[in-house]
Amino acid sequence: MFYLTTAIDYTNGAPHIGHAYEKVLADVIARYRRLCGDEVYYLTGVDQHGQKVQQTAEKENVNPATFAQRNTKKFIKLWEKLDVQYDGWAETVDDRHKACVQKILTRLHTEGQIYKKQYKGYYSVRQEQFLTDKERGEDGNFGPEWGEVEERDEENYYFKLSEHAAWLRQYVEANDDFVIPSFRKAEVLNAIDRAADTDLCISRPKTRLRWGIELPFDSDYVTYVWFDALINYISFAGYLAEDGSNLPEFEKLWPANIHILGKDILVPSHSIYWPCMLHAIGFTDAQMPSLLVHGWWNIKGEKMSKSIGNVICPSALAEQFGPEALRYYMVRDIITGKDSNFDADRLVSIYNTELANDLGNLCNRALNMSKRSLSSIMEASAFDDDDCTALRQSLTQTIANYRESMDRYDTSSALAAINQHVSFCNGFAERNKPWELAKDEEQRPRLAAILYHMVESCAQLSVLLTPVTPEACTKIQHQLRLPDLADKKLADLQWGLIPADHEIGKPKPVFPRIQLDD
Ligand code: ME8
Ligand code: MG
Repeated sequence: MFYLTTAIDYTNGAPHIGHAYEKVLADVIARYRRLCGDEVYYLTGVDQHGQKVQQTAEKENVNPATFAQRNTKKFIKLWEKLDVQYDGWAETVDDRHKACVQKILTRLHTEGQIYKKQYKGYYSVRQEQFLTDKERGEDGNFGPEWGEVEERDEENYYFKLSEHAAWLRQYVEANDDFVIPSFRKAEVLNAIDRAADTDLCISRPKTRLRWGIELPFDSDYVTYVWFDALINYISFAGYLAEDGSNLPEFEKLWPANIHILGKDILVPSHSIYWPCMLHAIGFTDAQMPSLLVHGWWNIKGEKMSKSIGNVICPSALAEQFGPEALRYYMVRDIITGKDSNFDADRLVSIYNTELANDLGNLCNRALNMSKRSLSSIMEASAFDDDDCTALRQSLTQTIANYRESMDRYDTSSALAAINQHVSFCNGFAERNKPWELAKDEEQRPRLAAILYHMVESCAQLSVLLTPVTPEACTKIQHQLRLPDLADKKLADLQWGLIPADHEIGKPKPVFPRIQLDD
């Protein structure tokens, strides 16, 4: 079983392009793993508790539950629109999740992993965490990234993070696939020192924050939002689930093959708190998940932010350009792990070049010419030459490069590999000029072979591209009158998917050009 998750999105606002990217990336990976023949479980959802949600709800004069639910609907609608197909949906207000969080808290408390102490110090409301001197900048002050910083003097519950720091260090050092891409490993190792001498405050007094999961051993407190949220990865996978909970069987899913998350939440939450929490609960090294850390979509080199007013709404883009144009762009114009600039003009130009022009044109030409010149039938032909051999080799190479890239979660290179074969095919058509061959009856065997090579390429490419543009690929397969291609796995991609004497259907452009009327 391939179990993958994404971060769960805060419901203090509407979804933005960063949220959309992460869920589409996960959807593409999930669909790819299915093409590989794996059984897949894809969990995503929303993070509904915490101070941010409570504060925004207060500003809008609604109670936090109503507010979170309202925003949750926006996320669900967007995933429908973008054809993000998840198997499990994590909402942190779910009673099954709350029960799991409370069982874990009770256990850690009983085992002495959680203790109470008085603490006087500084607190960042924006980041919802206590600050230490290590968080001070060179000038001795807390930088703007912490937002409003308040002094607090209160009793709270602490998780003994420091007891797990030495274990975590050796685990991270010994395991190169804990954090993907590996260049982020240094960041994690640096952060472990900090954890080594500070325990994690896992409670908030209800006098400050009511919107959270109550501590099972002290009803004056709720659970710190990150402690609650991280547990979604196991609670919704069935960990400690009650009978009849309708959750998956935990043993079948865990450990997660990958948690997909953005670089801002690698340290400290996912790479420090989370493995230490799992370790404290009793998970072994072999039961630790891997983290796939993606980069940031910026706008003209700047961070996307409400205050700058440059936040991009994925729903509006999907309306304007089509959901699959947006899906394609989001996994094409960024290298997984690195940052990129989101640019709607580039979306249009990449779509028009790679899909409307190159692939769209190939499909149209191949199907049109076959339909016209071969009287609707893909004729069997014994003709072969070096160019045909080269085309078959190009396709084999493309499939190999595609797999190698996708196995590294490098969707951009995988799409580049597809485009390479598309270019080969278009060059092949230009060189062989089937429209000329069609005028000469003696060239019929060659014509049939050339068109077969082009149409067969379209068939195989439609399978490779399915994870990214599923609807368009289904359309291509229907035009080929081979709906069974939808069930093919990568291992089935052997030359000859189009049976001899097959009758194809009528071509119709599946990637209409985007026209900008400016
Ligand atoms: O951090 N580009 O929620 P969130 C790419 N609830 N990815 C981006 C992005 C951008 N501009 N902005 C945000 C949270 N993201 C917590 C997670 S998980 C147990 C709890 C990514 O709504 C971000 O990195 O702020 C994160 O992975 C996801 O969107 C949700 O961010
Ligand atoms: Mg965030």
